[in-house]
Amino acid sequence: MKRANLMNPTLMALLFYVMAFSACTEQKQSRVIGVSQCSEDIWRSWQNSEMKMEANFHEGVELRFAAAYDDSKRQTHQIDSLVDSGINLLIVAPNQLSSVSPAIDRAYEKGIPVIVFERKTDSQKYTAFVSADNYEMGRLMGEYVVSRLGGKGKVMEILGLKGSSPADDRHNGFVDALKPTEVEIVATIQGDWTEPVAHEAVKKWLSDNKNAQIDLVFGHNDRSAIGARKAFMEANVPLPLFCGIDGLPGKDGGIQQVRDSLLEASYIYPTRGDQLLQLALDILDGKPYPKETMLTSAIVTHENAKVLLLESDEVMRQTQNLDKLQEKASGYLQQLATQRTITFLALILIALLVLSLVLFTLYHRSKISAQRERVVNNLWNLEMPEEGEVSSDSRNEEGDVSRNVEGDVSRNVECGMWNENTQVTDNAVTDSADDGNLIPHSTFHLPRNEEPLFIVRFKDVVEAHLSNSDISVDDLAAEMNLSRVQLYRKVKSITGASPIELLRTARLNKAYQLLLTTDKNISEVAYGVGFTAPSYFTKCFKEEFGVSPSDLQTQ
Ligand code: FRU
Repeated sequence: MKRANLMNPTLMALLFYVMAFSACTEQKQSRVIGVSQCSEDIWRSWQNSEMKMEANFHEGVELRFAAAYDDSKRQTHQIDSLVDSGINLLIVAPNQLSSVSPAIDRAYEKGIPVIVFERKTDSQKYTAFVSADNYEMGRLMGEYVVSRLGGKGKVMEILGLKGSSPADDRHNGFVDALKPTEVEIVATIQGDWTEPVAHEAVKKWLSDNKNAQIDLVFGHNDRSAIGARKAFMEANVPLPLFCGIDGLPGKDGGIQQVRDSLLEASYIYPTRGDQLLQLALDILDGKPYPKETMLTSAIVTHENAKVLLLESDEVMRQTQNLDKLQEKASGYLQQLATQRTITFLALILIALLVLSLVLFTLYHRSKISAQRERVVNNLWNLEMPEEGEVSSDSRNEEGDVSRNVEGDVSRNVECGMWNENTQVTDNAVTDSADDGNLIPHSTFHLPRNEEPLFIVRFKDVVEAHLSNSDISVDDLAAEMNLSRVQLYRKVKSITGASPIELLRTARLNKAYQLLLTTDKNISEVAYGVGFTAPSYFTKCFKEEFGVSPSDLQTQ
């Protein structure tokens, strides 16, 4: 019954531990997503920040970005190292169609899901593909150009990076739209998606083709169109119309450039970083997902630029608010995580404390009950040494014993005596002769009627004088009609303990019994068993039993 009560705190401690542990392991396993961007530019930054923003909404998502700065070799290495770094999924925009494909294939073959986005690879080894339709974009831009020029005119086209799929697709769509019309492509300039390269290439073309007439420049992206515009302005020739693709929101984005008439038109090339990340998480979480996603888009002209800009500004404003909110939320989450850890540690500490308290109490109780059993019916609890077990000291000739008498007496005097101030030079025989080793207490095996008569008598003498604090070994010896040395030798040879030890044990055992069976207080008990100072009694008692007298009384 008692045991069940005692187990309760242990169970509670374990429960605490399990609760705390599960609270701390609730978090989702982390998902590492590698993002390999072919370039580093305003369009890519926009997209990356959308992915980061989306990642904030999910627990345990880590994004690792790499940008190849339009260099396919560099992108190949970056993909390999992302894979080696242990990503769980790869999102990649291949710089060129074929040169980056082998690295993507390697990742895919290693079992890493791959999302190819916006630019194609020439392999089928990918998990999902996300893009807007670049051919359609080129075609629609072509149709716009034709209508803007009234079905007739001369056009310059600035191509995107050679070998990259959007460049090919946009060109094909544009050419197809112009075919049935009198709008003619008179200049095709190789660009690489960047503004400086377009600027330089157009500058060169203009200086090579003085007096050439161009009605409209179609750059495969807005940055190329703006680069070409700069070249035309610097050449001091009549400015044609400029069209591009990307139509980014925000300051210096394509929408604003159309509104400000730097561009005649642009086509929104959707970034949708958030959508990409969501797709990645769906794949990782084993949810259903589309193998191909075609993003829809729209043309930006003077007619809609103002509205689109207002809308995109509003979206940006909300995004910024969301950003602030998220920053706050992640601050709170951080705090929460710290608090969680502290709570967890505190709970473990409490559990350990409760556990040690329970174990200590159990140990203490079992110790006391064992002692109680041993001491309560037995004043002496000495084990009689077997024949031949008697210590060599006790077998020594008297002279030898006397030699021991000269030894150290302090230890036994300290706790072997009932009066710390008593000078017991006559007891020195017993004090030193046992070499300071106290005999361990154990139950007395022999029933009283089988004990040697001598010991029975010795016990009777000791018990008769238990409460006498002045009794000395000489007195005991005299009562037994023996000399001090004879008494020592005899007692020691039979019991293995010295008379003074036996006297001390009997006093403390008697005290133990009195504490358990009577209402006497500690001082009364101390005096009753021959101690002259209760504090000294308490000290000896504690040394003997490992508990203090007051502990016994509270049991
Ligand atoms: C961004 C970008 C865009 C362009 C797209 C083509 O890196 O150059 O300007 O529309 O890539 O892939």
